[in-house]
Amino acid sequence: MITIETSTDYELIADILSRSPALIRPPSAGKLRAMPKTTFFLALYNGAPSGVSCIQKLDFWHSMTKYLFVVEEYRRRGIAGELLSESVSHAEEVYHTPVVVATTNVDNVPVHMLNRRHGFRICVRFKSPLSENVLLLWVRSGVSSPSHEMEPEEKQLEV
Ligand SMILES: CC(C)(COP(=O)(O)OP(=O)(O)OC[C@H]1O[C@@H](n2cnc3c(N)ncnc32)[C@H](O)[C@@H]1OP(=O)(O)O)[C@@H](O)C(=O)NCCC(=O)NCCS
Repeated sequence: MITIETSTDYELIADILSRSPALIRPPSAGKLRAMPKTTFFLALYNGAPSGVSCIQKLDFWHSMTKYLFVVEEYRRRGIAGELLSESVSHAEEVYHTPVVVATTNVDNVPVHMLNRRHGFRICVRFKSPLSENVLLLWVRSGVSSPSHEMEPEEKQLEV
């Protein structure tokens, strides 16, 4: 059974993240503890720590989900999906930010599928300043159908 809980056990989270191949420099417990406006989620599979993620409020509009990782032996059981859902819900219901962003490597296909399934779309493709990697910036907006029509109030503002 999968359980997702919020966690401030930064030593444990840093230890789990030290196994992630997606991180060039896995963060220390101190770095995680110092991240402002950030909530960490710990996944337990039948009670065993099996994955992590976090959501960080960036500003009035945006939150960023980061550090998604599932321990190899627990993969393909829906844990990452649960962690991502929890991050997105927290951004919307606790931080009240309408936009959630995420970054991935351009060739990390598993996480692309996951992001699409959770409503993220690719916004920007860019070369990482830290490595040779090409990265994608993903955006998820709670606004279900973006409209290019002006609202009546906007029309009134037109000169
Ligand atoms: C990417 C990762 C988080 C997925 O974790 P997971 O718990 O196995 O993912 P889930 O079981 O929730 O899978 C959800 C969906 O993601 C996609 N997916 C996950 N692993 C996949 C794989 N190896 N190949 C293709 N698609 C995959 C599928 O669409 C899957 O749905 P399905 O099982 O119904 O087909 C995990 O593989 C991981 O930790 N990788 C290393 C770290 C990493 O890349 N993190 C992301 C950094 S941006």
